[in-house]
Amino acid sequence: MVKKEAFGNTTDGKAVELYTLTNSHGMEVRIMTYGGVIVSVKTPDKAGRLADIVLGYDTLTPYLSKNPYFGAIVGRYANRIGGARFTLDGKVYKLAANDGPNALHGGLKGFDKVVWQAESFQKGDAAGIILKYTSADGEEGYPGTVHVTVTYALNDKDEFHIDYQATTDKATPINLTNHTYFNLDGEGSGDVLGTEMMINAGHFTPVDSTLIPTGKIGSVTGTPLDFTKPTAIGARIDDKYEQLALGHGYDHNFVINRTGPGLALAARAYDPKSGRVLEVDTTEPGVQFYTGNFLNAVNGKHGHVYNKRDAFCLETQHYPDSPNKPEFPSAILRPGQTFHSTTIWKFSAR
Ligand code: GLA
Repeated sequence: MVKKEAFGNTTDGKAVELYTLTNSHGMEVRIMTYGGVIVSVKTPDKAGRLADIVLGYDTLTPYLSKNPYFGAIVGRYANRIGGARFTLDGKVYKLAANDGPNALHGGLKGFDKVVWQAESFQKGDAAGIILKYTSADGEEGYPGTVHVTVTYALNDKDEFHIDYQATTDKATPINLTNHTYFNLDGEGSGDVLGTEMMINAGHFTPVDSTLIPTGKIGSVTGTPLDFTKPTAIGARIDDKYEQLALGHGYDHNFVINRTGPGLALAARAYDPKSGRVLEVDTTEPGVQFYTGNFLNAVNGKHGHVYNKRDAFCLETQHYPDSPNKPEFPSAILRPGQTFHSTTIWKFSAR
């Protein structure tokens, strides 16, 4: 089922709508048209008790001014571009440096800070919404008018599908993700250090001190980044290991093990307290595992205060800084092509 209601206005007077998707198991996902933000995700624990397992705010206002990307669609280029510039077809493009010397998450006003056009649908057992946004040529320094469509759908198998599509009229970098912060025991229930994480990746992209990949592909074997077997997030997070020091914890792009194109398992998280499981499948080559290292006394939902490591993100994506790293899978979209990517979150409890 899909329900629609008003959720307030942006500072420049644009109306924001809130959509509620529900399935026959009582799962509920709420999404607003500002930033395409996933405002809440309610799923049952092993005893059937519902809890909201994503960080966020109760009302629109805090999302407008200080959102650390809670739930948001991120683009035109998710993650970092080194030196806030890239060269494409011989031309240099300059971007806003909004993260030290680098460009982060699409710029000063990325896809997380715009109001999307929405339309709801019901198709078989899936309830969903289609969000559309047109990013103008030159917006945030990027070339080409880009038409983006993001489809969110919840089905009766407790799967939440995110489909991204984009076209352009000039070659441009594209990297689209969703920045939901999960705490499987419920938002505001404390840290996620006890959550057991499995990341289906034998390799990662090591970073420099500004979190830009060095260009090397590193093996996770024998490092605290080896999550090929389920391991508590907190088991090694404070180990003396250079990459963890640079990231202030986990803030790394993992290279998903795959045998070919199409959907592949990226990660599976299990919270022993609630029994909730989240599996992430994606068509993307990478996933950024981020442990909320920059959260600091955020006044969240229901009077909850969120701190460092109170959530984790699994941002499916192309590798950071791909526009400056010809050795990485290309993130360039050209006229005539259609960018298409899918990520599925599968919820269960045991
Ligand atoms: C991403 C980045 C982090 C941080 C968050 C937002 O996950 O990798 O370093 O910038 O977004 O706070």
